[in-house]
Amino acid sequence: MKILVTGGAGFIGSNFIYYMLEKYPDYKIVCLDKLTYAGNLSTLKKAMENPNFKFIKGDISDRKFIYDLFEKEKFDIVINFAAESHVDRSIENPEIFLQTNVIGTQVLMDASRKTGVKRYHQVSTDEVYGDLPLDRPDLFFTEETPIHTSSPYSASKAAADLLVLAYHRTYQLPVTISRCSNNYGPYHFPEKLIPLMIIRALNNQTLPVYGDGKNIRDWLYVKDHCIAIDKIIHKGKEGEVYNIGGHNEKTNLEVVKTILKELNKPEELITFVKDRPGHDRRYAIDPTKIKNELGWEPTTTFEEGIKKTIKWYLENKQWWEEIISGEYQNYYEKMYGNR
Ligand code: NAD
Ligand code: TYD
Repeated sequence: MKILVTGGAGFIGSNFIYYMLEKYPDYKIVCLDKLTYAGNLSTLKKAMENPNFKFIKGDISDRKFIYDLFEKEKFDIVINFAAESHVDRSIENPEIFLQTNVIGTQVLMDASRKTGVKRYHQVSTDEVYGDLPLDRPDLFFTEETPIHTSSPYSASKAAADLLVLAYHRTYQLPVTISRCSNNYGPYHFPEKLIPLMIIRALNNQTLPVYGDGKNIRDWLYVKDHCIAIDKIIHKGKEGEVYNIGGHNEKTNLEVVKTILKELNKPEELITFVKDRPGHDRRYAIDPTKIKNELGWEPTTTFEEGIKKTIKWYLENKQWWEEIISGEYQNYYEKMYGNR
């Protein structure tokens, strides 16, 4: 079995690569990544020592390059993690989100069709469903919830999902889609809520909470996402969408306070800053379908997962210090300087 993992130098893709190399010692895994600001080769250092793993630098929206790669490698399965993934960046500059998230998906599917890939899996997000009101805790996203996007990021992911389903219906491309809630865990880029807060708290810096901090996200430990994708690519039904989430809803303020408590830091570090434009209020996944059809359930609670994650950031300072010492410094100034 030969699997292409795109975006594998990023957060979830790299966790997936480590999970698969360990679980399937006879599979060949090829990682294709453009190494944007969010991709980090040092994340894959240990994988590079495995003879079943290969890294290739390239852009999923570069048609000629992708066609040549697919002809040469003859992949059995393609899993597309590659994306521009940060909502705040999509508000600043939407264009690259369309190029990578939409055109890149189309190019990968065209190459999959040409070379007879047996399964194309699109890693999508619960953000395609828009948001839920805070005063209706009884409501959840199911696979039937209409697409209703808020940010240029979620709109680009939704556009890609529709294209994936169209390729199934029109060309019978054997596709599946997963829509997962917010992930957290090792190798999470320090511009996202949880790693940002851990690192800033460790450095005794202020913690910028958007708006009133009451927005709710449904947090899933990244390994549970990897287990779900493994099940979908092996046992999921072609043409189907699977929601992935663990009923772990927390307000942003709860998350930040948990981190401060774990690190023994004062709540005075919390600073409320100007809200994100179009800020989604609540995401909450109903995972009944994947539970009933594929027997998937989360294995890590938020309480365990956040402890493991904090431990990982404490033990892997070099990984994030290299990231935040570079271009990221300028990013922080630009995004938070005037808030
Ligand atoms: P990430 O930003 O950490 O990683 C994305 C990776 O894609 C990076 O390594 C980057 O270099 C690479 N990449 C970007 N543009 C590329 C291109 N044109 N060609 C090749 N590689 C390119 O993102 P992540 O958090 O790991 O998310 C992975 C996927 O999961 C995304 O599709 C995202 O939409 C989806 N998702 C993320 C979450 C979450 O909480 N992080 C939740 C649900 C779904
Ligand atoms: P984020 O990690 O960017 O994920 P997403 O927007 O895709 O859910 O943000 C998670 C939540 O945390 C979201 O409600 C925005 C909020 N947030 C802050 O309050 N402060 C911050 O500095 C960041 C990055 C996010």
